[in-house]
Amino acid sequence: MKRIGILTAGGDSPGLNAAIRAIGKAAIGEHGSALVGFRDGFRGLAEDRRMRLDSTMLAGILTVGGTILGTSRDKPRRMLVGGRAVDVTDDIVATYERHELDALVCLGGGGTQKNALRLARRGLAIVTLPKTIDNDVAGTDATIGFATALEVATEAIDRLHSTAHSHHRIIVAEIMGHQAGWLALGSGIAGGADVILIPEIPYEVGRIAHAIRDRCDHGMNFSIIAVAEGAMSSADWNARRSAEQRRAAARTETEKQAAKLELSALDARHDGNTLRLAQQMEELTGLESRVTILGYVQRGGTPSAADRLLATRLGAEAARLVDAGVFGVMVAARGDGAQPVPIEQVAGKIKTVPPDHAWVQAARSVGTCLGD
Ligand code: F6P
Repeated sequence: MKRIGILTAGGDSPGLNAAIRAIGKAAIGEHGSALVGFRDGFRGLAEDRRMRLDSTMLAGILTVGGTILGTSRDKPRRMLVGGRAVDVTDDIVATYERHELDALVCLGGGGTQKNALRLARRGLAIVTLPKTIDNDVAGTDATIGFATALEVATEAIDRLHSTAHSHHRIIVAEIMGHQAGWLALGSGIAGGADVILIPEIPYEVGRIAHAIRDRCDHGMNFSIIAVAEGAMSSADWNARRSAEQRRAAARTETEKQAAKLELSALDARHDGNTLRLAQQMEELTGLESRVTILGYVQRGGTPSAADRLLATRLGAEAARLVDAGVFGVMVAARGDGAQPVPIEQVAGKIKTVPPDHAWVQAARSVGTCLGD
């Protein structure tokens, strides 16, 4: 009988429990294996904090949001222990060996793929699953959680429409996604936002104001702007690129520290970006502006049917791969099926929105302003 460890790491997303259930039901029922759950991501593995995961525990969780295992953003290589960043990789290997595990399944986003690769290189038999509401894991058509977040953000934009219309206001809706704009773009298109701003396309405030004034000239004195957390103006984008180049070129410790400080200052400034954008729009268009930050409602709650389906097919495939002894792979979504992809082809990469992507073209075709 194989013993399979399982953990969820990184930000939670709807569909994690559906995936845990699928892995467990297939591993126990179809392949005769046993499951050991580890709490709170890699931290629980390092600290050997476990959860019983038998058939009883797997029942009734398909529709439940979050993750019954708990999660954290802790990294094995730099985990805060007593206020200090410590490499706990040896502790993790020790836990794995103590419980005589035959495999470890890690459910997570881009960061988790990187951490899992390090553990695979230390000899652990790893299979990963891609999850994040950002849809930005490389090498997979889809990630667990995105479909649900897309529904939530779209419904929010729908609701903002009627109030923006009634008050003749601009409403700026901030949508999650620091590095990739899939969620803002998808929900912006589905919700009919007038302006969609994503990290991949730097914007000019003047262009956005022009598009909104143009709507007013045509009798539509309200607008919805869907802005991704990471979207930035061309000026900010250029400042960030130069700072990143200086960091890459830094040779001395002083130069490295200076570039790091510069990037932190830019990050701090970016934190108020959505509010600043709303103020700028008010000044440039004369329309009253309001901000709605959707935040964590996008990650919470019951998974959509699409996410339950995705989680179930990827989870069942993960159990099959473990049984077949295929390790060092992420179970990627491919069309209607699933396909193992070497983790090293995925780790450290990020799937951003190509500026000529079909969704971008469709948005432009229906007259949506992308800020450029
Ligand atoms: O990675 C998913 C995500 O929800 C991002 O969209 C968001 O920027 C981030 O997590 C928030 O992270 P945290 O949970 O650490 O606040």
